[in-house]
Amino acid sequence: MIHASGVSMDLLEAGPDWNATSDAEVQALGAKIYELEQTLIPHGLHVVGRGASAEERADLLAAMAVAKGKDLADCDFAEIDALLSIDHELAAIVAALDGRYIAPVAGGDVLRDAAVLPTGRNIHGFDPFRIPSAYAVVDGAAQAEKIVARHVADTGEFPESIAMVLWGTDNLKSEGAQIAQALALMGARPRFDSYGRLAGAELVSLEELGRPRIDVITTLSGIFRDLLPLQSRMLAQAALLASTAEEPLDQNFVRKHSLAHQSEHGCDIETASLRVFSNNEGAYGANVNQMIDGSTWNDGDDLADSFERQKGFAYGVDGKPQSQIKIMQSALKGVDFACQNLESVEIGITAIDQYVDGLGGISRSIARAKGKAAPVYISDQTQGAGKVRTLNEQLSLETRTRVLNPLWYEGMLQHGGEGVRNIEGAVTTTMGWSATTGQVDAWVYQQITETFVLDPEMRARMARLNPKSSAKVANRLIEASERNFWQPDAATLAALHAASDDIEDQLEGILQAAE
Ligand code: BEZ
Ligand code: MG
Repeated sequence: MIHASGVSMDLLEAGPDWNATSDAEVQALGAKIYELEQTLIPHGLHVVGRGASAEERADLLAAMAVAKGKDLADCDFAEIDALLSIDHELAAIVAALDGRYIAPVAGGDVLRDAAVLPTGRNIHGFDPFRIPSAYAVVDGAAQAEKIVARHVADTGEFPESIAMVLWGTDNLKSEGAQIAQALALMGARPRFDSYGRLAGAELVSLEELGRPRIDVITTLSGIFRDLLPLQSRMLAQAALLASTAEEPLDQNFVRKHSLAHQSEHGCDIETASLRVFSNNEGAYGANVNQMIDGSTWNDGDDLADSFERQKGFAYGVDGKPQSQIKIMQSALKGVDFACQNLESVEIGITAIDQYVDGLGGISRSIARAKGKAAPVYISDQTQGAGKVRTLNEQLSLETRTRVLNPLWYEGMLQHGGEGVRNIEGAVTTTMGWSATTGQVDAWVYQQITETFVLDPEMRARMARLNPKSSAKVANRLIEASERNFWQPDAATLAALHAASDDIEDQLEGILQAAE
């Protein structure tokens, strides 16, 4: 019965029935369900000018207790509760518009550090000379080993080369944990001067490292590049130092690959050691998200082209961007897996479209360069000691805990048309993951269709709140089937088309009435 009900909920593959020797499978399913239950999700959208309700505060305080590893009853949250209950933001916005002073505070994630409250203050994020922090260096090294271990467990192979997507705000929230992770993979660490200020990178000896140096290709968001120029140069320096270290090539994959790039491209070692890529100055994003949203792409090559055109600017030790698409392509050809950290429960990989833009985009480029897709991992840092999931696992988890979860979509629908727009955004971004990685299971589309389009009450409700976004949901699911990301049965497809026509008629009616 347990097996059958797991299959009916797409939690298990169909197959022979479980029996008295299936203890391990039962335990694994139990762990999966517990994870779903424990996953934190946001309560709808943030509304400026309104303090958090008693219910929202109770949930947030409970989550804060979990983040501290304590029981809520053992935490004194009276002051925090009071700060959350009153709006501090509207007055601050008005003060800013009046050109008046707004008290500053260090930025951060409220689940990790309640000192960010009250909100509505100016944020001074960080001291750029102290990122990564000592804690981030220790934690980053641990997370680096964890993600390598997951890959070894999945494939039996030790990676030579990893592509990491780094964001600016995430590194501010974590004091530079992802930067430290990238350094640790290469067998490097930050170097501080006698005043304790960040001065560059230095190599950890191979004896101390105890494993080969792994090559790391980082793609920085435009925000990272703007906020963290010292750290961009430090990463470039770590790659250059590793490339020029006289070490055996089977113990130093950075050097091994740089020497190969050098002979392939006939360039100097500085150019062959370029590993830090981002947009050109003043530009942001890979434009992959916009192409997906606008359906302006024919095949995966269009997406890879856009990614490489936007993100093919290398930042070396001098900090100056140079267009180096060929070097980037060579580096991506050797990538064993791509990954990104998830640093906040406020957002998820389907909640905003920048994950699919950067991580999805690079995955598409890696697949083209290699001639086959590489695994993609998400390192979830939002709870406890962190957990590495495959992209497919993360997409399944988020689909169940957010898009298909009444707590999430009812939270969204409280915001009327804007909530419907957010639901549509999640559906579009889900399709974006199919477009860039092919890692979305068919049940995801089927369940989304049943929940939002085939349920007549829900369809009518969404169409009333926001007919344009509602039509987009139906059309996106049709687009996903036309692109062969799932194969709905004939009845489902017909129902999708009927729903789409129905909502479009309604939309035309509204437009005509307005004329
Ligand atoms: C960043 O902080 O780098 C970032 C945040 C949101 C979307 C994209 C990038
Ligand atoms: Mg952590």
